[in-house]
Amino acid sequence: MARGKFITFEGGEGAGKSTQVRLLAEHLTGLGLDVVVTREPGGSPFAEAIRTVVLDAATPPHAELSEALLFNAARADHLERTIRPALEKGRWVICDRFMDSTRVYQGLVGGLDQEVLDALDRIVVQPTVPDLTVLIDLDPVVGLARVEQRRLGGALAPVDRYESRSPDFHERLREGFLRIARDEPQRCVIVDGFQSVDALAREIRGHADARLPRGRTG
Ligand SMILES: Nc1ncnc2c1ncn2[C@@H]1O[C@H](COP(=O)(O)OP(=O)(O)OP(=O)(O)O)[C@@H](O)[C@H]1O
Ligand SMILES: [Mg+2]
Repeated sequence: MARGKFITFEGGEGAGKSTQVRLLAEHLTGLGLDVVVTREPGGSPFAEAIRTVVLDAATPPHAELSEALLFNAARADHLERTIRPALEKGRWVICDRFMDSTRVYQGLVGGLDQEVLDALDRIVVQPTVPDLTVLIDLDPVVGLARVEQRRLGGALAPVDRYESRSPDFHERLREGFLRIARDEPQRCVIVDGFQSVDALAREIRGHADARLPRGRTG
């Protein structure tokens, strides 16, 4: 059986990742594919437990390396228990945030040495690098306003440790994601998050259909 494809979504807070993950999953399911939707940090019981710690605003300050190791500890379990078994069964996996978020938050912005993160990627992620990564690029002022709107609308999730950082922090995240996507154009597409949900979904479907031919082994 052909291995399934692995698609990840990246971008800043409120860029529209979760919305577009859901719409792409619906599209691919409609084409007859068996689709698994998952997220990071999280995606397996152990990784979800780590998620609670890393996103909790009450978690004490800690070393950037500790943070990167926690994300990678979660990722290793997520890959082993959820992602790889699904791909091997021919299922398509769509993941809301993945390794690029660690590279950006802990590396390009957090200041952790790129070599450390490359080494962790080699140990933890290889050989399961995404077949396609969709970077939803958006002005963080717009993204954070959407998150705030969502919260006022009744989704009473507490402000997490990342959302509460300075505007400058979020601007640097944006630049970090763009840098990675531009460096790896074979894997990544950059889409403009400042368009309607439907227009963006159409654009992303087009990229997925063009870049990930179905029925071929990967
Ligand atoms: N293209 C869009 N235009 C306007 N609003 C949008 C668009 N896409 C998503 N939204 C709204 O913005 C909010 C954030 O969207 P979503 O949760 O998909 O983003 P996200 O990138 O997953 O955010 P987070 O980083 O918080 O997980 C939601 O309330 C969503 O309905
Ligand atoms: Mg989301």
